[in-house]
Amino acid sequence: MKFLDKEGKLHQHYEKIGELKDDRLTAFDYNLRSLEIECAKSYIFPTTKILDVGSGPGTACFEYAQISNKVVGMDYAQSMVDFSTEQLHLKHPNLLKRLHFDRGSALELPYDSNSFDMITSHRVLIALLSWESQKKALQEITRCLIPHGIYVMFEATFEGLEILNKFKKMFNLREVSDGGDGDYDRLLFSEKNLKEFMREEFELIRIHSFGMYYFISRILQPLFVAPNSAKYDHKLNDVAFQIARHIPDFENMGHLKGYVWKKNG
Ligand SMILES: C[S@@+](CC[C@H](N)C(=O)[O-])C[C@H]1O[C@@H](n2cnc3c(N)ncnc32)[C@H](O)[C@@H]1O
Repeated sequence: MKFLDKEGKLHQHYEKIGELKDDRLTAFDYNLRSLEIECAKSYIFPTTKILDVGSGPGTACFEYAQISNKVVGMDYAQSMVDFSTEQLHLKHPNLLKRLHFDRGSALELPYDSNSFDMITSHRVLIALLSWESQKKALQEITRCLIPHGIYVMFEATFEGLEILNKFKKMFNLREVSDGGDGDYDRLLFSEKNLKEFMREEFELIRIHSFGMYYFISRILQPLFVAPNSAKYDHKLNDVAFQIARHIPDFENMGHLKGYVWKKNG
C-alpha cells in the first residue's frame, strides 16, 4: 500500500467526503458556516470578481453568485469539484453563467496574478499542516488579488480557542483540542504570527468574531443538555444563529474568526 503522509491522508479524507455528496460534511457546524457566508456577502457587489479557495461542496459560492456575476470556486479534491458542479447544474442552473468550479491547490493557485477583487477561504488554510504551507497559500492569495482587493479569511486561531476553553473550564465543560475531531488533522493560526506576516502586504480592516454563537452553542447548549452530548443540529444552535446575526460577539470567544484584509495598492 502506498505510504501517505498526514497531508496525503487529509487529501484522501476530503476526496472521500466529497464522494458522499453531503454539504454538511465539510461544515458540521452548518449554522456557523451560514454566519461566515452572511458576513462575507456584506463585502460583495455585483461586479466583484470572487475566488473561494477550498470551496468544497460550493455552499458559499452558490450564495456569492446570487450577488456577484463572476464567482470561481476552487478545491484540490476532484470529488468536491464534481459534486459542486453537479449541484450547480441541478439546483442552481440560473447561476451557470456566473459561477464555475475548478480543481487546483491553494499552494499553487491556477490563476494569473491580479485576477480577483475578492478571495475567501472558509476553514481551508487550517488544513495546510505547517506554517510554511500556510504562508505559501497566503502568498498565492496575495498574488492573485488586485491591488486594494480584499481577502476575507474564515480561519481559526489558537488565541480564540484559548478564550473559548477558558469559559469551558469555568463551567467544567470538556475543553476543545486544537487538533481537530480525531480522525484528521488541522493546524490553527497564531493570530500574532498571522498579523506580523500579513502586515507587509495588507491592512487589516476588520476582525469578525462569532462569540455570541460560540457562547450559546458551546457553553449554554452543553450545560442545558447535560448529561447528554451537545449536537450541532440542536434547536438552540438555530436560536444562536438568529441572535448572532444581530449581536455577533460575546467576549471575543471562539477559534473561528473572519479576518478582512485589504491588499496594499
Ligand atoms: C473544512 S472543508 C471546507 C469546505 C468549504 N469551504 C465549506 O465551508 O464547506 C476544507 C476544504 O478545503 C479543501 N482543501 C484542503 N486543502 C486544500 C488545498 N491545499 N488546496 C485546495 N483545497 C484544499 C478540502 O478539499 C475541503 O473541501
